[in-house]
Amino acid sequence: MAKVKTSFYCQQCGAQYAKWQGQCSSCKAWNTIAEEVISTDKKDWKATKSKSKQKPTLVKDIKYQQEPRLLTQNKEFNNVLGGGIVPGSLTLLGGEPGIGKSTLLLQIALQLPFKTLYVSGEESQQQIKMRAERITTSFSNCYILTETKTQQIFKHIENFEPEIVIIDSIQTLHSDYIESSPGSISQIRECTSELIKYAKESQVPVILIGHITKEGSIAGPKILEHMVDTVLQFEGDRNHVYRILRAHKNRFGSTNELGIYEMQGNGLREVNNPSEILISSSKENLSGTAIAATLEGMRPLMIEIQALVSTAVYGTPQRSTTGYHAKRLNMLLAVLEKRAGFRLGAKDVFLNITGGISVDDPAIDLAVIAAILSSNEDIAIEKNICFAAEVGLAGEIRPVTRIEQRILEAEKLGFSYILISKENKIADKNYHIKIEKAGRIEEVISFLFG
Ligand code: TYD
Ligand code: MG
Repeated sequence: MAKVKTSFYCQQCGAQYAKWQGQCSSCKAWNTIAEEVISTDKKDWKATKSKSKQKPTLVKDIKYQQEPRLLTQNKEFNNVLGGGIVPGSLTLLGGEPGIGKSTLLLQIALQLPFKTLYVSGEESQQQIKMRAERITTSFSNCYILTETKTQQIFKHIENFEPEIVIIDSIQTLHSDYIESSPGSISQIRECTSELIKYAKESQVPVILIGHITKEGSIAGPKILEHMVDTVLQFEGDRNHVYRILRAHKNRFGSTNELGIYEMQGNGLREVNNPSEILISSSKENLSGTAIAATLEGMRPLMIEIQALVSTAVYGTPQRSTTGYHAKRLNMLLAVLEKRAGFRLGAKDVFLNITGGISVDDPAIDLAVIAAILSSNEDIAIEKNICFAAEVGLAGEIRPVTRIEQRILEAEKLGFSYILISKENKIADKNYHIKIEKAGRIEEVISFLFG
C-alpha cells in the first residue's frame, strides 16, 4: 500500500504548510490550518500522454480562428461574458447562498438550444424539476444528473457527450484521488483541475457554481479564481428583488459589463432598462429625493437618492446610510457645513439609495448633497432635474468621466435638466436636455432653491 501523504492547508487562503501551526503566516487568520490527505496515485481520469509540439513563434505568424461563441437566450448573460460562452472555457459563478445562482443557471440551461448537462450535488432531481416548472414550461435539451463524484460525472459525460456542462456546486464535488472531505481546499483544487482538463481537451464549456463566504470571497482557496477563465459574481440584497451579475475576471472580454435581473415568482427576469424601475414613478414632488446619473460598469443608470434630515433627539446625532459609504456622507456634510454654512451638526441624517443597490461612483455626490439640502429645507426638487458631478472638499463641483453617456441616459428617460460641473468638457452634440453647469456648491444651491 502506498504511504499516506498528508499536508496542511489554510482553509481560508490555501497556503500550504509542512506542519500544523495556529496562525496562517500568509493571511494571518487563526485556526484555519487543517491537515488534508493527499494521495500521489495516478491522477488522470483518462490516460492521456501529453506530447507537446509547441515551439516559440513570432506573434505575427500565429494564426487563429475566431471560435464561434455559444449564445444563450439570456442576453444579459451573454453580454457579461463578452458575447457568449467561449468553447472550452471554465466559468465560475459566485454568490451568497439564496441569491439565485441555481435559478439563473437552470433557467439558462433550460432555454439552451444545445445538449446541456446540469449536474447538481445540492438538490434532488425532483427538487430541480419543481424549480424548473416554476421557471418555464418548455424543457428542451437539458438533462439533470445528481452526482458528486467527479469520476462518475466524467463517465456519464463520456457516454452522453453534452455540449455544455453546468456544475452546481464545486464545493459539493469530490474526487477519488483525494481523501479529504468535499469542500476542502485540496478537493476543490483537484476537482477544478480535472474539470479544466476536460474542458480544454473536449472544447466543451463548463460553468461552475461557487459559494461565497461571509467575507464575500468565493469559499475555498483564492486559487480557484486563478484557475478558471472567467469569474462572475451574482450579487444583490436578498431582501430586494434586483440582482446584478458582473464579471470580476474575464479572459475573453471586458470586466466592465454588467447584467441586471429581477427575481420574480417565476424566475429571473432580465431588466433591459434598469433606470426606469429604480426611479419612483410617483408624480408628486417629494422633498429629500434627488436623481443621479451614475455608471455601473459601462452601463449608465439613473438612481434615486433619498435623504432624511431631522433634529437629533438624542445627544449624538445619527448618520446612517444604505447603499452609500458612510464616510463619504460625513465628508459631504462637513463640506456643506464649512463651505455653505448649513448647520447640520445637530441633525440626524439618513441616506438611502433606492432599489437595494449600492453605489460607489463619486458622480452621485452632487445628488446626495441636493437630497440632503432638499430634506433640510423641506423644498422638493423638481422631478425633471438630475445630477452628475463629484463634490470636492473645497466645495467645488468636479467633473466626472463619461459625461456624454450619462447625459444621453438622462435624455432618454425624459429629464429636462442635468446639472454637471463647469469643467466637464462635452463633445458638441445636439442634446434636447438642458445642460446646467455649476462651479461651486453655492451656485447649485441658488439654482435649486432660487
Ligand atoms: P437559488 O437559486 O436556490 O439560490 P442559490 O442557488 O444562489 O443558493 O434561489 C434562491 C431564492 O430565489 C429562493 O429563496 C427562492 C427564490 N426564487 C424566486 O423568488 N422565484 C423563483 O422562480 C425561484 C426559482 C426562486
Ligand atoms: Mg443553489
